[in-house]
Amino acid sequence: MADLSHDEAARRLEALGAAIRHHDYQYYVLDQPEVGDADYDSLMRELLAIETEHPDLVTPDSPSQKVGGQVAPTFSPVRHRAPLLSLENAYSEAELEDFDRRVRSLLPGETVEYVAELKIDGLSVALRYENGRFVQGATRGDGEVGEDITANARTVKTVPHRLKPLRELAKKLTKDPDLFNPEPTPAGWTVAVRGEVFMPVAAFEKVNQARGEVGDPFFANPRNAAAGSLRQLDPAVTAGRELDAFLYEIIYSEPAEVAPATHWETLKFLGALGFKTNPESRFCPTIAEVVAYCRDWDEKRWDLPYEIDGAVVKVNSLDQRVRLGVRSKSPRWSIAFKYPAQKAETVVRNVAVNVGRTGILTPVAELEPVRLAGSTVSRASLHNEDIVRDKDVRIGDTVVIQKAGEVIPEVVEVVKAKRTGTERVFEMPSRCPVCGAPVVREPGEAAHRCTNGLSCPAQIWESLIHFGSRDGMDIEGFGPKIIDQLLKTGLIHDPGDIYALTVEQLVELERMGNKSAQNLIEAIDASRRQPLNRLLFALGLRHVGDRAAFLLARHFATMERLAAASEAELQQVPEIGEKIAASVVEFFSQEINRGLIRRLAESGVNMTMPGAAGVAGEPGEAGPGAGEADAGAGPGRALGEPLPGPAHPLAGVTIVLTGTLATLERREAEEIIRNFGGRPSSSVSKKTDYVVVGENPGSKLEKARELTASGQAPDLRIIDEDEFKRLIGRA
Ligand code: IVH
Repeated sequence: MADLSHDEAARRLEALGAAIRHHDYQYYVLDQPEVGDADYDSLMRELLAIETEHPDLVTPDSPSQKVGGQVAPTFSPVRHRAPLLSLENAYSEAELEDFDRRVRSLLPGETVEYVAELKIDGLSVALRYENGRFVQGATRGDGEVGEDITANARTVKTVPHRLKPLRELAKKLTKDPDLFNPEPTPAGWTVAVRGEVFMPVAAFEKVNQARGEVGDPFFANPRNAAAGSLRQLDPAVTAGRELDAFLYEIIYSEPAEVAPATHWETLKFLGALGFKTNPESRFCPTIAEVVAYCRDWDEKRWDLPYEIDGAVVKVNSLDQRVRLGVRSKSPRWSIAFKYPAQKAETVVRNVAVNVGRTGILTPVAELEPVRLAGSTVSRASLHNEDIVRDKDVRIGDTVVIQKAGEVIPEVVEVVKAKRTGTERVFEMPSRCPVCGAPVVREPGEAAHRCTNGLSCPAQIWESLIHFGSRDGMDIEGFGPKIIDQLLKTGLIHDPGDIYALTVEQLVELERMGNKSAQNLIEAIDASRRQPLNRLLFALGLRHVGDRAAFLLARHFATMERLAAASEAELQQVPEIGEKIAASVVEFFSQEINRGLIRRLAESGVNMTMPGAAGVAGEPGEAGPGAGEADAGAGPGRALGEPLPGPAHPLAGVTIVLTGTLATLERREAEEIIRNFGGRPSSSVSKKTDYVVVGENPGSKLEKARELTASGQAPDLRIIDEDEFKRLIGRA
């Protein structure tokens, strides 16, 4: 591909883009993939490689942009060309029938048909396409003015960057088939569509679990999570959030003829253009069928992989819609049927206090089990002391609970009329219920926290789970049951003890055979070689998720340097803000944490980031543990074979090669970088992570020196071939 001329590259990119878009559509919209992951990845890799060689050919609608483009300073306002209306609500079947009567009275003598749809609980967006290309995404806002979320909308897998050309289906659907001759899509066609961006329940649970692991507050429900994700200034964050979108209306089309005459056809038309439309929408010739649809989904909604808060009824004929017209904020041709929030009454048996990994104490109401919104609920979080006070929840109270956003149970209110006088007021304990250490509530914080850090067994248990987790040190077989036994038998007290365990000790544990014991010891042993970013994440510093851990490890290169960094120095690292910086300093200021790190280093746990400044090339400077372990591939590994398990330190890293390498062909080196998940690039910019310098380097080296000297690229590293080989495990 390096040999392609500019024109050839452009043509190849066009073909690859079309193929990738087609497979995205098959996979994400239709759920009918035609190729396996490996074939898809190879198309994507080829596209990325050509774009790297020819950065000027990268277009905003390239599949590569699905991973997130530029970080925006703010969201600019967007005035909608036509207002994005809201809907009137109906809360009963009788109100649906009233709606039908009203509609028919305004259209005397006419047949009125409807389409019933699910009311997706997400965020309403408008997407504009010009000449079949996505050009702008905006939130609904107040209906008149929304926010520009184009870059974020691009990262939603089911938002097509390009529409499919209008061919046979469109011809059949439109009033003026000649518009499509001779071009498949009329030149100058602009269409704006409306739909709902939402977060599937599974993705919501995943996001919340990850947030819990770094001590970030949970999203209350998938709707908030979707809104929070779409309003991220960094589109790469949005891209990681697994958002989805159903489209359901054409807001306008220019020329207007390029649009169907009924809503039912509009849905098919949107599908033909490549949008994801909701498969549960129904054509309903009468209001009786609409009512049956709403009733049906009231029960079935708990089986859906996403949340709905009702159904939407729409008049099918667009001509009738025009004649029915709109009120100030909502159309006369549609109504939302809202399902009541599911509530249930139950009794608070007790209020327990949970201690999390970061030491936060959470009061949890233990309830008389009750069925609610598809599951049995026996616990509800009361979040913190203020909330218990505000709601005045007492032990023994009868309470109304509901699923906030239909997922997490919460106490709505106390049924005070049912109080008998025997209820007990809950007090937040002044000592940790697990270890007895004093509890503090820091000024400005709602949470109480155990002050015992890693000496608190509850925090120890949680931190051991986190330490061995997949994104942490990835110790296979190191799960809750083993951890329970190891703690009970006193074999371990904290993560520092894990590396002293022996097969002989493990076989003594219940249900632990020789083979499993050996496997676990091998897994523990292998985890010693994890790079610094994994170790940092595994240590569970507050607010330090895997991204922050990677940035810190790459910047500071060794645990020693990171531990010595001041808040100001930490904040020099791009993307590292006050909160993370303060948390890192706080962590290293505690003797218990410093002791733990010392013991880990003495056990041979790697404390360095391979390839980062001062590590591979200057072993003497590396922190404790340097030299004992190298997270690169071991000897004998085939060239370019990716490391098993955890992400390699090159994953996501941009590398520029300049000059001739003595022992590696350029293509070969690029292939290896790609295999490790990195990106070979042909031009040096602030975003470059490494410049590998061979013989007779060109202007790229000068550019790299300029950028580092001027402080514009503080994380850019200039390395030689040997260092590069150490990085890829070939030294
Ligand atoms: S139609 C003028 N259809 O519900 C027509 N809205 O309460 C406007 N919503 O702001 C909307 N699913 O965000 C429509 N299938 C659906 C919908 C839907 C969810 C949302 C939409 C709207 C809100 C109104």
